[in-house]
Amino acid sequence: MTKPRLYSGMQPSADSLQIGNYIGALMQWRDLQDSYDAYFSVVDLHALTQPNDPAELRAKTRRTAAQYIAAGIEPSRSTLYVQSHVSAHSELAWALSTITGFGEAGRMTQFKDKSARYGADATNVGLFTYPVLMAADILLYQTDVVPVGDDQKQHIELTRDLAERFNSRYGQTFTVPTPVIQRDTARIYDLQNPTAKMSKSAESDAGVLWLLDEPAKSAKKIMRAVTDSEGVVRFDREAKPGVSNLLVIYAALSGRQIASIEDEYAGRGYGDFKKGLAEVVVSEFEPVRERALALLDDTAELDRVLAENAGRAASVANRTLSDVYDRMGL
Ligand code: ADP
Ligand code: NA
Repeated sequence: MTKPRLYSGMQPSADSLQIGNYIGALMQWRDLQDSYDAYFSVVDLHALTQPNDPAELRAKTRRTAAQYIAAGIEPSRSTLYVQSHVSAHSELAWALSTITGFGEAGRMTQFKDKSARYGADATNVGLFTYPVLMAADILLYQTDVVPVGDDQKQHIELTRDLAERFNSRYGQTFTVPTPVIQRDTARIYDLQNPTAKMSKSAESDAGVLWLLDEPAKSAKKIMRAVTDSEGVVRFDREAKPGVSNLLVIYAALSGRQIASIEDEYAGRGYGDFKKGLAEVVVSEFEPVRERALALLDDTAELDRVLAENAGRAASVANRTLSDVYDRMGL
């Protein structure tokens, strides 16, 4: 039996991924590789919607790919490639943009938020068509399942609408994908501002745990994490967002239940709890960091692996694109 197909990706928007990307995406991707024919992309075309230095973007793309591999995504088992290496992404995005309503794209809340923040002159058209490119990413591979964060729900809805619209207008062409929305227990918040999602594009990185940081630096950030004055290690997202966030990280990385961690630290202070968490984080990150740095030591080999995987991706993507062109009369 053939395995269902899965697609996911991340932008190369920083030198290092953060622990939210690791727990919320990479750890899950790693586990999903067994049951799915998985495609994991470093979406550098999407990253162009933000200002970038070209050499830095190229470096970030390699670094992101190296972290995928270091975290356990196997390029011999899954297809792990750089989006811009497969030209069908841009080509299908154009075709899909012609069946996307202007108002429909304008209703995307992520675009509305970003364009309001940047102002019209600093908002590029790529930011507006971003969700159409994302739809192309997914539909090119006849994807069955897309694991995504909550913030991407609306974009997946658009992807499904475009797939159904194309299929009914031109004949059955695309698989309509199903989103798998990330669990609340996989959502990580900023250590200094525990009601805001941790992000690799946060303005300040005081509350961000980077996968590629020196372990001692991450330990220090954990010791300084915002908590509360109650002094009890107890999960309560509303009343104790800081401690709850630390508990979620602890549980995710150790594979333990939150209740068992609460029990272990009953009657002990936050200092002990943070020290315990720092050990868990450092021991998880250290080997990942070392593997990533080793991969980045040999960029020729890394590039070879990425080129080979892009070739595999292209052979699937080009089949879909060719059907699309054929049906549209191109
Ligand atoms: P970032 O905000 O760090 O730039 P992206 O928006 O590029 O992250 O998301 C990349 C992937 O990482 C997505 O699958 C997203 O759901 C996941 N992710 C990002 N931040 C977090 C977080 N704080 N907690 C859990 N998952 C996250
Ligand atoms: Na981001």
